[in-house]
Amino acid sequence: MSANSVALAYLIASVFFILALKGLSSPLTARRGNLFGMVGMAIAVATTLTITKNWALILACIALGGAVGAVVARRVQMTAMPELVAFMHSLVGLAAVFIAIAAVNNPVSFGLPAILPMGSKLELFLGTFIGAMTWSGSVIAFLKLSGRMSGAPITFGGQHMVNLILAVVMVAFGLWFFFSETTNWTAFAAMTAIAFVLGFLIIIPIGGADMPVVISMLNSYSGWAAAGIGFSLGNPMLIIAGSLVGSSGAILSYIMCKAMNRPFLSVILGGFGSEGGAVAASDQGQKTYRSGSADDAAFLMGNADTVIIVPGYGLAVARAQHAVKELAEKLHSKGVNVRFAIHPVAGRMPGHMNVLLAEAEIPYEQVLEMDEINSDFPNTDVVLILGANDVVNPAANVPGSPIYGMPILEAHKARTVMVVKRSMAAGYAGLDNDLFYMDKTMMVFGDAKKVVEDMVKAL
Ligand code: TAP
Repeated sequence: MSANSVALAYLIASVFFILALKGLSSPLTARRGNLFGMVGMAIAVATTLTITKNWALILACIALGGAVGAVVARRVQMTAMPELVAFMHSLVGLAAVFIAIAAVNNPVSFGLPAILPMGSKLELFLGTFIGAMTWSGSVIAFLKLSGRMSGAPITFGGQHMVNLILAVVMVAFGLWFFFSETTNWTAFAAMTAIAFVLGFLIIIPIGGADMPVVISMLNSYSGWAAAGIGFSLGNPMLIIAGSLVGSSGAILSYIMCKAMNRPFLSVILGGFGSEGGAVAASDQGQKTYRSGSADDAAFLMGNADTVIIVPGYGLAVARAQHAVKELAEKLHSKGVNVRFAIHPVAGRMPGHMNVLLAEAEIPYEQVLEMDEINSDFPNTDVVLILGANDVVNPAANVPGSPIYGMPILEAHKARTVMVVKRSMAAGYAGLDNDLFYMDKTMMVFGDAKKVVEDMVKAL
Protein backbone atom coordinates (compact mmCIF):
# COMPACT_ATOMS: atom_id res chain seq x y z
CA MET A 1 0.00 0.00 0.00
CA SER A 2 1.29 3.50 -0.80
CA ALA A 3 1.91 5.93 2.06
CA ASN A 4 -1.11 7.96 0.98
CA SER A 5 -3.42 4.94 0.95
CA VAL A 6 -2.19 3.94 4.42
CA ALA A 7 -2.83 7.47 5.71
CA LEU A 8 -6.32 7.43 4.16
CA ALA A 9 -7.15 4.02 5.65
CA TYR A 10 -5.95 5.17 9.08
CA LEU A 11 -8.06 8.31 8.75
CA ILE A 12 -11.14 6.21 7.95
CA ALA A 13 -10.40 3.96 10.96
CA SER A 14 -10.07 7.07 13.17
CA VAL A 15 -13.46 8.34 12.01
CA PHE A 16 -14.95 4.96 12.99
CA PHE A 17 -13.33 5.26 16.43
CA ILE A 18 -14.84 8.71 16.92
CA LEU A 19 -18.25 7.41 15.84
CA ALA A 20 -17.77 4.52 18.28
CA LEU A 21 -17.18 6.92 21.17
CA LYS A 22 -20.22 8.95 20.17
CA GLY A 23 -22.35 5.78 20.00
CA LEU A 24 -21.15 4.61 23.41
CA SER A 25 -22.39 7.81 25.03
CA SER A 26 -25.96 6.48 25.23
CA PRO A 27 -27.34 2.99 25.98
CA LEU A 28 -29.65 3.38 22.98
CA THR A 29 -26.75 3.68 20.52
CA ALA A 30 -24.09 1.69 22.42
CA ARG A 31 -24.39 -1.44 20.28
CA ARG A 32 -23.91 0.56 17.11
CA GLY A 33 -20.97 2.33 18.78
CA ASN A 34 -19.36 -1.03 19.53
CA LEU A 35 -19.84 -2.11 15.94
CA PHE A 36 -18.17 1.07 14.66
CA GLY A 37 -15.28 0.41 17.03
CA MET A 38 -14.86 -3.13 15.71
CA VAL A 39 -14.96 -1.99 12.07
CA GLY A 40 -12.42 0.79 12.82
CA MET A 41 -10.09 -1.67 14.56
CA ALA A 42 -10.40 -4.20 11.71
CA ILE A 43 -9.43 -1.48 9.18
CA ALA A 44 -6.53 -0.34 11.40
CA VAL A 45 -5.16 -3.87 11.88
CA ALA A 46 -5.55 -4.80 8.19
CA THR A 47 -3.79 -1.58 7.12
CA THR A 48 -0.95 -2.14 9.58
CA LEU A 49 -0.51 -5.68 8.24
CA THR A 50 0.02 -4.29 4.74
CA ILE A 51 3.00 -2.23 5.94
CA THR A 52 4.64 -4.93 8.02
CA LYS A 53 6.92 -7.68 6.77
CA ASN A 54 6.83 -10.48 9.29
CA TRP A 55 3.28 -11.63 8.52
CA ALA A 56 3.53 -15.17 9.83
CA LEU A 57 4.74 -14.11 13.27
CA ILE A 58 2.19 -11.29 13.54
CA LEU A 59 -0.73 -13.47 12.48
CA ALA A 60 0.39 -16.20 14.89
CA CYS A 61 0.50 -13.65 17.73
CA ILE A 62 -2.92 -12.25 16.77
CA ALA A 63 -4.36 -15.78 16.71
CA LEU A 64 -2.83 -16.64 20.08
CA GLY A 65 -3.80 -13.37 21.79
CA GLY A 66 -7.24 -13.40 20.16
CA ALA A 67 -7.92 -16.97 21.30
CA VAL A 68 -6.90 -16.25 24.88
CA GLY A 69 -8.93 -13.00 24.85
CA ALA A 70 -12.01 -14.75 23.48
CA VAL A 71 -11.90 -17.49 26.13
CA VAL A 72 -11.34 -14.98 28.96
CA ALA A 73 -14.12 -12.69 27.71
CA ARG A 74 -16.60 -15.57 27.47
CA ARG A 75 -15.77 -16.85 30.94
CA VAL A 76 -15.58 -13.60 32.88
CA GLN A 77 -18.41 -12.84 35.28
CA MET A 78 -19.94 -9.38 34.98
CA THR A 79 -18.85 -8.66 38.56
CA ALA A 80 -15.23 -9.43 37.65
CA MET A 81 -15.12 -7.01 34.70
CA PRO A 82 -13.30 -4.19 36.56
CA GLU A 83 -10.35 -6.41 37.44
CA LEU A 84 -10.27 -7.79 33.90
CA VAL A 85 -10.17 -4.23 32.56
CA ALA A 86 -7.35 -3.40 35.01
CA PHE A 87 -5.47 -6.50 33.82
CA MET A 88 -5.91 -5.47 30.15
CA HIS A 89 -4.58 -1.98 30.91
CA SER A 90 -1.50 -3.54 32.46
CA LEU A 91 -0.81 -5.34 29.17
CA VAL A 92 -1.15 -2.11 27.16
CA GLY A 93 1.40 -0.48 29.49
CA LEU A 94 3.80 -3.40 29.22
CA ALA A 95 3.47 -3.45 25.41
CA ALA A 96 4.45 0.23 25.32
CA VAL A 97 7.55 -0.50 27.44
CA PHE A 98 8.60 -3.47 25.26
CA ILE A 99 8.19 -1.46 22.05
CA ALA A 100 10.30 1.34 23.54
CA ILE A 101 13.04 -1.11 24.61
CA ALA A 102 13.04 -2.65 21.12
CA ALA A 103 13.23 0.79 19.49
CA VAL A 104 16.12 1.89 21.73
CA ASN A 105 17.90 -1.40 21.03
CA ASN A 106 17.50 -1.31 17.24
CA PRO A 107 16.17 2.06 16.04
CA VAL A 108 16.83 1.29 12.37
CA SER A 109 14.33 -1.58 12.32
CA PHE A 110 11.68 0.95 13.41
CA GLY A 111 12.62 3.33 10.61
CA LEU A 112 14.55 5.62 12.99
CA PRO A 113 18.15 6.86 12.54
CA ALA A 114 20.79 4.57 14.12
CA ILE A 115 21.68 7.35 16.59
CA LEU A 116 18.33 8.28 18.07
CA PRO A 117 17.45 11.95 17.54
CA MET A 118 16.43 13.98 20.60
CA GLY A 119 12.76 14.08 19.56
CA SER A 120 12.56 10.27 19.38
CA LYS A 121 14.31 9.95 22.71
CA LEU A 122 11.75 12.23 24.30
CA GLU A 123 8.86 10.23 22.82
CA LEU A 124 10.42 6.94 23.93
CA PHE A 125 11.02 8.37 27.39
CA LEU A 126 7.36 9.44 27.70
CA GLY A 127 6.00 6.18 26.29
CA THR A 128 8.24 4.10 28.55
CA PHE A 129 7.60 5.83 31.82
CA ILE A 130 3.84 6.16 31.29
CA GLY A 131 3.71 2.53 30.10
CA ALA A 132 5.72 1.25 33.07
CA MET A 133 3.59 3.17 35.56
CA THR A 134 0.45 1.93 33.83
CA TRP A 135 1.66 -1.66 34.11
CA SER A 136 2.52 -1.63 37.81
CA GLY A 137 -0.45 0.58 38.77
CA SER A 138 -2.82 -1.73 36.88
CA VAL A 139 -1.34 -4.81 38.52
CA ILE A 140 -2.06 -3.32 41.96
CA ALA A 141 -5.57 -2.31 40.84
CA PHE A 142 -6.12 -5.87 39.56
CA LEU A 143 -4.90 -7.41 42.84
CA LYS A 144 -7.05 -5.06 44.94
CA LEU A 145 -10.19 -5.47 42.86
CA SER A 146 -9.93 -9.23 42.63
CA GLY A 147 -9.49 -9.52 46.39
CA ARG A 148 -5.99 -11.01 46.05
CA MET A 149 -4.76 -8.03 48.04
CA SER A 150 -6.54 -5.97 50.68
CA GLY A 151 -8.54 -3.06 49.24
CA ALA A 152 -7.44 -0.97 52.24
CA PRO A 153 -5.11 1.94 51.53
CA ILE A 154 -1.45 1.17 52.21
CA THR A 155 0.21 4.26 53.55
CA PHE A 156 3.47 5.15 55.28
CA GLY A 157 5.00 8.35 56.62
CA GLY A 158 6.43 10.71 54.04
CA GLN A 159 4.81 8.77 51.20
CA HIS A 160 4.17 11.77 49.01
CA MET A 161 7.69 13.04 49.56
CA VAL A 162 9.10 9.62 48.54
CA ASN A 163 6.93 9.69 45.40
CA LEU A 164 8.09 13.19 44.59
CA ILE A 165 11.78 12.33 45.06
CA LEU A 166 11.42 9.21 42.90
CA ALA A 167 9.67 11.24 40.20
CA VAL A 168 12.49 13.82 40.22
CA VAL A 169 15.18 11.10 40.09
CA MET A 170 13.31 9.39 37.25
CA VAL A 171 13.16 12.63 35.25
CA ALA A 172 16.89 13.17 35.97
CA PHE A 173 17.72 9.74 34.48
CA GLY A 174 15.41 10.59 31.57
CA LEU A 175 17.39 13.78 30.95
CA TRP A 176 20.66 11.85 31.13
CA PHE A 177 19.30 9.42 28.52
CA PHE A 178 18.05 12.39 26.50
CA PHE A 179 21.37 14.26 26.43
CA SER A 180 23.69 11.22 26.02
CA GLU A 181 25.28 11.08 22.58
CA THR A 182 25.12 7.31 22.30
CA THR A 183 22.43 4.94 23.62
CA ASN A 184 22.65 5.26 27.40
CA TRP A 185 21.23 1.95 28.62
CA THR A 186 22.04 2.69 32.28
CA ALA A 187 19.92 5.83 32.26
CA PHE A 188 17.13 4.18 30.28
CA ALA A 189 17.00 1.10 32.52
CA ALA A 190 17.11 3.17 35.74
CA MET A 191 14.36 5.45 34.50
CA THR A 192 12.19 2.48 33.51
CA ALA A 193 12.76 0.68 36.83
CA ILE A 194 11.82 3.79 38.83
CA ALA A 195 8.69 4.25 36.71
CA PHE A 196 7.63 0.67 37.57
CA VAL A 197 8.14 1.37 41.28
CA LEU A 198 6.29 4.70 41.06
CA GLY A 199 3.29 2.96 39.49
CA PHE A 200 3.08 0.66 42.54
CA LEU A 201 3.54 3.51 45.01
CA ILE A 202 0.93 5.74 43.42
CA ILE A 203 -1.82 3.12 43.50
CA ILE A 204 -1.24 1.35 46.85
CA PRO A 205 -2.49 4.25 49.01
CA ILE A 206 -5.71 4.55 47.04
CA GLY A 207 -8.64 3.13 48.98
CA GLY A 208 -11.34 0.85 47.66
CA ALA A 209 -13.93 3.59 47.28
CA ASP A 210 -11.70 5.45 44.82
CA MET A 211 -10.89 2.40 42.69
CA PRO A 212 -13.41 3.29 39.94
CA VAL A 213 -11.52 6.50 39.31
CA VAL A 214 -8.21 4.63 39.34
CA ILE A 215 -9.43 2.27 36.66
CA SER A 216 -10.47 5.00 34.29
CA MET A 217 -7.31 6.94 35.11
CA LEU A 218 -5.16 3.91 34.20
CA ASN A 219 -7.25 3.57 31.07
CA SER A 220 -6.26 7.13 30.26
CA TYR A 221 -2.57 6.46 31.05
CA SER A 222 -2.52 3.40 28.81
CA GLY A 223 -3.91 5.53 25.96
CA TRP A 224 -1.22 8.20 26.42
CA ALA A 225 1.48 5.51 26.57
CA ALA A 226 0.26 4.14 23.23
CA ALA A 227 0.13 7.66 21.76
CA GLY A 228 3.71 8.34 22.94
CA ILE A 229 4.93 5.18 21.25
CA GLY A 230 2.90 6.11 18.16
CA PHE A 231 5.04 9.25 17.83
CA SER A 232 8.25 7.19 18.08
CA LEU A 233 7.08 4.75 15.43
CA GLY A 234 5.64 7.50 13.25
CA ASN A 235 2.31 5.65 13.30
CA PRO A 236 -0.60 8.13 13.12
CA MET A 237 -3.16 5.41 13.94
CA LEU A 238 -1.50 4.69 17.26
CA ILE A 239 -1.30 8.40 18.02
CA ILE A 240 -4.98 9.01 17.24
CA ALA A 241 -6.34 5.86 18.94
CA GLY A 242 -4.05 6.42 21.95
CA SER A 243 -5.14 10.04 22.28
CA LEU A 244 -8.81 9.07 22.05
CA VAL A 245 -8.36 6.49 24.81
CA GLY A 246 -6.22 8.90 26.83
CA SER A 247 -8.61 11.82 26.65
CA SER A 248 -11.84 9.83 27.05
CA GLY A 249 -10.32 8.05 30.09
CA ALA A 250 -9.34 11.40 31.57
CA ILE A 251 -12.85 12.80 30.99
CA LEU A 252 -14.42 9.70 32.56
CA SER A 253 -12.08 10.02 35.56
CA TYR A 254 -13.12 13.64 35.94
CA ILE A 255 -16.84 12.77 35.76
CA MET A 256 -16.40 10.02 38.34
CA CYS A 257 -14.40 12.27 40.64
CA LYS A 258 -17.29 14.73 40.48
CA ALA A 259 -19.79 11.92 41.19
CA MET A 260 -17.75 10.82 44.21
CA ASN A 261 -16.73 14.31 45.29
CA ARG A 262 -13.03 13.51 45.03
CA PRO A 263 -10.49 16.14 43.95
CA PHE A 264 -9.49 15.11 40.41
CA LEU A 265 -5.89 16.25 40.64
CA SER A 266 -5.34 14.44 43.94
CA VAL A 267 -6.58 11.17 42.53
CA ILE A 268 -4.57 11.31 39.29
CA LEU A 269 -1.43 12.13 41.25
CA GLY A 270 -2.22 9.22 43.55
CA GLY A 271 -2.61 8.61 47.20
CA PHE A 272 -4.81 11.45 48.34
CA GLY A 273 -7.99 9.47 47.96
CA SER A 274 -7.54 7.06 50.81
CA GLU A 275 -10.03 8.63 53.18
CA GLY A 276 -12.99 6.68 51.79
CA GLY A 277 -11.21 3.35 51.94
CA ALA A 278 -11.19 0.88 54.72
CA VAL A 279 -13.21 2.32 57.52
CA ALA A 280 -14.79 -0.43 59.54
CA ALA A 281 -18.52 -0.60 60.07
CA SER A 282 -19.17 1.24 63.29
CA ASP A 283 -21.60 0.81 66.12
CA GLN A 284 -24.28 -1.18 64.36
CA GLY A 285 -24.60 -3.50 67.34
CA GLN A 286 -26.24 -0.79 69.46
CA LYS A 287 -28.89 0.27 66.96
CA THR A 288 -32.17 -1.39 66.18
CA TYR A 289 -33.71 -2.05 62.82
CA ARG A 290 -36.97 -3.44 61.52
CA SER A 291 -37.11 -6.43 59.22
CA GLY A 292 -39.92 -7.95 57.16
CA SER A 293 -40.56 -10.62 54.59
CA ALA A 294 -40.73 -10.51 50.82
CA ASP A 295 -44.51 -10.85 51.15
CA ASP A 296 -44.71 -7.75 53.39
CA ALA A 297 -42.61 -5.81 50.89
CA ALA A 298 -44.74 -6.98 47.95
CA PHE A 299 -47.90 -5.92 49.78
CA LEU A 300 -46.52 -2.41 50.40
CA MET A 301 -45.35 -1.99 46.81
CA GLY A 302 -48.60 -3.36 45.37
CA ASN A 303 -50.51 -0.65 47.24
CA ALA A 304 -48.17 2.20 46.34
CA ASP A 305 -48.61 4.75 43.54
CA THR A 306 -44.93 5.29 42.95
CA VAL A 307 -41.96 2.97 43.45
CA ILE A 308 -38.31 3.70 42.76
CA ILE A 309 -35.93 0.74 42.55
CA VAL A 310 -32.29 1.44 43.43
CA PRO A 311 -30.01 -1.33 42.13
CA GLY A 312 -26.51 -1.81 43.53
CA TYR A 313 -23.63 -4.23 43.52
CA GLY A 314 -25.71 -6.94 45.27
CA LEU A 315 -28.08 -7.04 42.29
CA ALA A 316 -25.10 -7.94 40.09
CA VAL A 317 -23.85 -10.57 42.54
CA ALA A 318 -27.28 -12.19 42.73
CA ARG A 319 -27.86 -11.82 38.96
CA ALA A 320 -31.34 -10.63 39.84
CA GLN A 321 -31.89 -8.36 36.82
CA HIS A 322 -34.38 -10.64 35.05
CA ALA A 323 -36.37 -11.19 38.24
CA VAL A 324 -36.41 -7.42 38.75
CA LYS A 325 -37.81 -6.89 35.29
CA GLU A 326 -40.63 -9.30 36.13
CA LEU A 327 -41.24 -7.44 39.37
CA ALA A 328 -41.43 -4.09 37.57
CA GLU A 329 -43.85 -5.54 35.00
CA LYS A 330 -46.07 -7.00 37.73
CA LEU A 331 -46.17 -3.66 39.51
CA HIS A 332 -46.89 -1.78 36.26
CA SER A 333 -49.79 -4.11 35.56
CA LYS A 334 -51.19 -3.09 38.95
CA GLY A 335 -50.98 0.58 37.95
CA VAL A 336 -47.86 1.37 39.99
CA ASN A 337 -45.41 3.87 38.47
CA VAL A 338 -42.04 2.06 38.71
CA ARG A 339 -38.73 3.65 37.83
CA PHE A 340 -35.07 2.78 38.36
CA ALA A 341 -32.53 5.17 39.87
CA ILE A 342 -28.90 4.77 38.80
CA HIS A 343 -25.95 6.12 40.76
CA PRO A 344 -22.86 6.78 38.58
CA VAL A 345 -20.64 4.49 40.69
CA ALA A 346 -23.19 1.84 41.73
CA GLY A 347 -21.74 -1.64 41.26
CA ARG A 348 -18.10 -2.12 40.41
CA MET A 349 -17.60 -0.47 37.03
CA PRO A 350 -18.89 2.58 35.20
CA GLY A 351 -22.34 1.87 33.78
CA HIS A 352 -22.54 -1.49 35.62
CA MET A 353 -26.21 -1.09 36.54
CA ASN A 354 -27.18 0.24 33.10
CA VAL A 355 -25.61 -2.84 31.50
CA LEU A 356 -27.46 -5.23 33.82
CA LEU A 357 -30.82 -3.53 33.33
CA ALA A 358 -30.28 -3.35 29.56
CA GLU A 359 -29.44 -7.07 29.55
CA ALA A 360 -32.86 -7.72 31.11
CA GLU A 361 -34.39 -5.39 28.47
CA ILE A 362 -35.82 -2.98 30.99
CA PRO A 363 -37.06 -0.01 28.90
CA TYR A 364 -34.55 2.86 28.91
CA GLU A 365 -37.24 5.43 29.70
CA GLN A 366 -37.76 3.76 33.10
CA VAL A 367 -34.06 4.08 33.94
CA LEU A 368 -33.05 7.49 35.30
CA GLU A 369 -29.68 8.90 36.31
CA MET A 370 -29.11 10.33 39.79
CA ASP A 371 -29.48 13.98 38.75
CA GLU A 372 -32.74 13.26 36.93
CA ILE A 373 -34.47 11.42 39.77
CA ASN A 374 -33.06 12.72 43.06
CA SER A 375 -35.68 15.46 43.45
CA ASP A 376 -38.49 12.85 43.10
CA PHE A 377 -37.63 10.80 46.22
CA PRO A 378 -39.61 12.97 48.70
CA ASN A 379 -42.78 12.36 46.63
CA THR A 380 -42.20 8.63 46.27
CA ASP A 381 -44.22 6.07 48.25
CA VAL A 382 -41.71 3.22 48.29
CA VAL A 383 -38.01 2.95 47.51
CA LEU A 384 -36.79 -0.60 46.97
CA ILE A 385 -33.02 -0.82 47.45
CA LEU A 386 -31.66 -3.98 45.88
CA GLY A 387 -28.13 -4.82 46.99
CA ALA A 388 -27.06 -1.16 47.16
CA ASN A 389 -25.41 0.37 50.20
CA ASP A 390 -22.77 3.12 49.78
CA VAL A 391 -24.70 4.89 47.02
CA VAL A 392 -27.65 5.51 49.39
CA ASN A 393 -25.64 6.11 52.58
CA PRO A 394 -26.73 9.43 54.18
CA ALA A 395 -23.35 9.51 55.94
CA ALA A 396 -22.27 11.30 52.77
CA ASN A 397 -24.10 14.36 54.15
CA VAL A 398 -22.32 14.28 57.52
CA PRO A 399 -19.18 16.42 57.78
CA GLY A 400 -16.24 14.32 58.93
CA SER A 401 -17.60 11.11 57.44
CA PRO A 402 -15.09 9.36 55.15
CA ILE A 403 -17.57 9.66 52.29
CA TYR A 404 -18.63 13.22 53.16
CA GLY A 405 -19.54 15.14 50.03
CA MET A 406 -20.12 12.12 47.78
CA PRO A 407 -23.45 12.70 46.01
CA ILE A 408 -25.93 9.94 46.89
CA LEU A 409 -29.33 8.79 45.74
CA GLU A 410 -31.59 10.43 48.32
CA ALA A 411 -33.59 7.28 49.08
CA HIS A 412 -33.86 8.31 52.77
CA LYS A 413 -36.30 11.06 51.72
CA ALA A 414 -38.94 8.63 50.41
CA ARG A 415 -42.01 7.78 52.50
CA THR A 416 -41.07 4.10 52.93
CA VAL A 417 -37.69 2.48 52.34
CA MET A 418 -37.15 -1.26 51.79
CA VAL A 419 -33.65 -2.68 51.68
CA VAL A 420 -32.90 -6.12 50.25
CA LYS A 421 -29.51 -7.54 51.28
CA ARG A 422 -28.24 -10.63 53.04
CA SER A 423 -27.13 -9.13 56.35
CA MET A 424 -26.34 -5.84 58.07
CA ALA A 425 -22.82 -5.95 56.61
CA ALA A 426 -21.19 -2.81 55.27
CA GLY A 427 -20.78 -1.99 51.58
CA TYR A 428 -17.61 -1.40 49.59
CA ALA A 429 -16.47 1.66 51.57
CA GLY A 430 -16.75 -0.35 54.82
CA LEU A 431 -19.20 2.08 56.44
CA ASP A 432 -22.30 1.47 58.50
CA ASN A 433 -25.46 2.91 56.91
CA ASP A 434 -27.93 4.88 59.08
CA LEU A 435 -30.59 4.48 56.43
CA PHE A 436 -31.03 0.87 57.58
CA TYR A 437 -31.99 2.00 61.10
CA MET A 438 -34.57 4.65 60.20
CA ASP A 439 -38.15 4.16 61.44
CA LYS A 440 -39.46 4.14 57.88
CA THR A 441 -37.01 1.46 56.75
CA MET A 442 -37.76 -2.26 56.48
CA MET A 443 -34.88 -4.68 55.92
CA VAL A 444 -35.71 -7.74 53.82
CA PHE A 445 -32.87 -10.21 54.31
CA GLY A 446 -31.85 -12.71 51.66
CA ASP A 447 -30.22 -13.10 48.28
CA ALA A 448 -31.61 -10.38 46.00
CA LYS A 449 -32.73 -12.80 43.27
CA LYS A 450 -34.55 -15.13 45.67
CA VAL A 451 -36.23 -12.23 47.50
CA VAL A 452 -37.37 -10.56 44.28
CA GLU A 453 -38.72 -13.86 42.93
CA ASP A 454 -40.67 -14.27 46.18
CA MET A 455 -42.01 -10.72 45.78
CA VAL A 456 -43.16 -11.54 42.24
CA LYS A 457 -44.93 -14.66 43.52
CA ALA A 458 -46.60 -12.68 46.29
CA LEU A 459 -47.85 -10.05 43.85
P1 TAP B 1 -21.93 -1.61 47.93
O1 TAP B 1 -21.79 -0.37 48.75
O2 TAP B 1 -20.71 -2.39 47.66
O3 TAP B 1 -22.99 -2.53 48.66
C1 TAP B 1 -23.46 -3.70 48.06
C2 TAP B 1 -24.34 -4.41 49.04
O4 TAP B 1 -24.90 -5.51 48.35
C3 TAP B 1 -23.58 -4.95 50.23
O5 TAP B 1 -23.81 -4.18 51.39
C4 TAP B 1 -24.06 -6.41 50.36
O6 TAP B 1 -24.64 -6.60 51.65
C5 TAP B 1 -25.16 -6.52 49.29
N1 TAP B 1 -25.12 -7.81 48.58
C6 TAP B 1 -24.05 -8.49 48.14
N2 TAP B 1 -24.42 -9.62 47.56
C7 TAP B 1 -25.77 -9.67 47.63
C8 TAP B 1 -26.76 -10.61 47.20
N3 TAP B 1 -26.44 -11.74 46.58
N4 TAP B 1 -28.05 -10.31 47.43
C9 TAP B 1 -28.40 -9.18 48.07
N5 TAP B 1 -27.51 -8.27 48.50
C10 TAP B 1 -26.21 -8.51 48.29
O7 TAP B 1 -22.59 -1.32 46.51
P2 TAP B 1 -23.15 0.02 45.86
O8 TAP B 1 -24.14 0.68 46.76
O9 TAP B 1 -23.54 -0.38 44.49
O10 TAP B 1 -21.92 0.99 45.83
C11 TAP B 1 -20.82 0.76 44.98
C12 TAP B 1 -19.54 0.93 45.77
O11 TAP B 1 -18.49 0.31 45.04
C13 TAP B 1 -19.14 2.37 46.00
O12 TAP B 1 -18.47 2.50 47.21
C14 TAP B 1 -18.19 2.63 44.82
O13 TAP B 1 -17.28 3.69 45.06
C15 TAP B 1 -17.48 1.30 44.76
N6 TAP B 1 -16.91 0.97 43.46
C16 TAP B 1 -17.58 1.32 42.35
C17 TAP B 1 -17.05 1.03 41.12
C18 TAP B 1 -17.81 1.53 39.94
S1 TAP B 1 -17.03 2.20 38.72
N7 TAP B 1 -19.11 1.44 39.91
C19 TAP B 1 -15.84 0.31 41.02
C20 TAP B 1 -15.20 -0.11 42.20
C21 TAP B 1 -15.76 0.24 43.42
P3 TAP B 1 -24.74 -8.08 52.26
O14 TAP B 1 -23.35 -8.62 52.26
O15 TAP B 1 -25.31 -7.87 53.61
O16 TAP B 1 -25.66 -8.86 51.37
